Amino acid sequence: MQTNKSITRKEFLKQLSWLIALPYALFAGLSFKQNSRVNRAKNIRIPLEINKGVTFRDGLIVVKEEESVQFLSSKCTHLGCRIYAVEQNELVCPCHGSKFSLEGKCTKGPAKEPLQKLKFKIDEIKNEYIVEIYK
Ligand code: FES
Repeated sequence: MQTNKSITRKEFLKQLSWLIALPYALFAGLSFKQNSRVNRAKNIRIPLEINKGVTFRDGLIVVKEEESVQFLSSKCTHLGCRIYAVEQNELVCPCHGSKFSLEGKCTKGPAKEPLQKLKFKIDEIKNEYIVEIYK
């Protein structure tokens, strides 16, 4: 059996339109993804005079020591449960028992990834930390 591989001009233009449209569709999808991440960013303000130790607040974990402070996302890297407990200097996820050091490093599974460290700035006029968190 012999097949005819020639196509009509209309079919050719139809296939060509897909080749032209595909890069635009990919670019549009990428732009939407980037914009949605930016739109999900939220700034949380925390007073500079927060207590030393570990504090759970507004979806984040504040670890303040004598000379340093760091902010971690309280979202567990296993399946996303909120972490709100510290036991023997480790952050403990209530869902499946993953544990993290106060620096966010995973010390016990099932989670494998560290907690997300959050960027922050200091507003010296209002005496607040401004922490950027993604919801
Ligand atoms: S969601 Fe935290 S250990 Fe599973």
